[in-house]
Amino acid sequence: MDQRRTPLVDFLNEEVQTYYRWCTPSVLLDAPRVGDVYATDVSASLSVRGTLADNSGIFEEAHRLAAEAYGADHTLFSVHGSTGSVYVVLRYLSLMYGTPLILASRNIHISVQNACEDFGVRYRFIRSHYDPEFDAFVPPKPEEVVEALERYPEANAVLLSNPTYEGLSCRLRETVEAIRGVSEDVLVIVDEAWGAHFRFSDRLPETAMDSGADISIQSTHKQGGSLQQTGMIHWRDERVDYDVMWEAYRGYVTTSPSYHLMASLDAARAHMVERGGEEIDRLIRLSERFRGMLRERLPRLGVLDSYYLERWAEHVGGIDLTKTLLSLTSYRVTGFWLDEELQRRFRVVPETANYNSLLFIATFQLPEDAVEVTVDALESLLTGAEAPGGKRLLNPPLMDRPPKIEPYLLRRMPKKLITQKIPIDLAVGMISAETVVTYPPGVPILIKGHRIEREAVEYLKAVRDAGGLLIARDPTLREVEVLKFP
Ligand SMILES: Cc1ncc(COP(=O)(O)O)c(C=O)c1O
Repeated sequence: MDQRRTPLVDFLNEEVQTYYRWCTPSVLLDAPRVGDVYATDVSASLSVRGTLADNSGIFEEAHRLAAEAYGADHTLFSVHGSTGSVYVVLRYLSLMYGTPLILASRNIHISVQNACEDFGVRYRFIRSHYDPEFDAFVPPKPEEVVEALERYPEANAVLLSNPTYEGLSCRLRETVEAIRGVSEDVLVIVDEAWGAHFRFSDRLPETAMDSGADISIQSTHKQGGSLQQTGMIHWRDERVDYDVMWEAYRGYVTTSPSYHLMASLDAARAHMVERGGEEIDRLIRLSERFRGMLRERLPRLGVLDSYYLERWAEHVGGIDLTKTLLSLTSYRVTGFWLDEELQRRFRVVPETANYNSLLFIATFQLPEDAVEVTVDALESLLTGAEAPGGKRLLNPPLMDRPPKIEPYLLRRMPKKLITQKIPIDLAVGMISAETVVTYPPGVPILIKGHRIEREAVEYLKAVRDAGGLLIARDPTLREVEVLKFP
């Protein structure tokens, strides 16, 4: 091989900026920035201005500024996205409660399932809903969260993934109030990975901190303006032990965190406080222009908009107007195919595709002409691809039954002795020994310890056949790993 080649360096320097990126990270180009990243890279050895490990000096100040800006009592910076923050928060739960029980919305990210397994946290799902026209998880109603709490009064926490990947927010304030009505002790944790920009515009849904939740996990890199990989954990004092949260964080975070990543969080916070309102207004205006042009030029395309709030009014309290979710049920083609063609032929990159849908995010770095370019591209790909009879809809299994065996217990048994691989069609009715995820959005469909339902197998096969990405031991789904005993 030619060892002078640097494929990643070349990709970043020469190619990335030639794409219209309707996808994360959404980076604020005008925020303060570090001059020379290479010359200023530094570690905790230079400690006179404080260190992260003891939250002193500049770190303490940056965290305090962020807490104030995001409406929290305390904030911590993550250099490992919300995945790392989920690990910190679930480690916190296990340090506080041993093997706690949490009640989670069905759209949990795979990191929640993994961290539960690693830290011995048990979870049960809150009743969930799905809209197959838009391939969208619909958040639970406040009454459904209460119903789960009444079913499991021993629960230590409720964990809501809110807003959903598609930008739907539950009636969060009412949900928090309803939880408090049942118990003053239950922690309300919100995986708010997709809501880091919400606080800075009154046209976006309310944040977890402002709605009275105890802990919020945000991926600031997704839509909050900082560099890829960065996020924040915010919390309120009332039900959260400060020292234990720090212990959970210290035990997880790298001892060599990137100061540049943390500086980009610092910069995004300062910029959003000063100009977040106008930045977000610009993104909403661009998105509205995009949706308006699509409606005019491609009237068969489903465009998620405020009418959606009416359809799911009991569930949805607000939507992220910087996102545009399209439904392709009137077309023969899948979202997977369109995504690939848009990238390959038009250099247009949607955030994600699903069987019947495409999701676009108006990002801070997106140029205004992206709207015209993308509408033209969609028109040229979709004209002639209409499906007069409509297309079939896909429904993932919602699995609100408890597991047959707690996943964290399986984790403690020798894999070789207890599992076997078998053809997936024979696996129906058996207990899964692996977690299979359709990606994105990274939501588990088969879950370790749960019985494998025919519905789940059919859904996974349909996603595979339509060109979707599966994360599984065998992504072709010829075989799946199950428990040897029933
Ligand atoms: C709801 C949710 N939580 C957590 C994560 C993980 O976030 P990150 O990529 O910042 O690690 C994601 C990623 O897409 C997500 O959608």
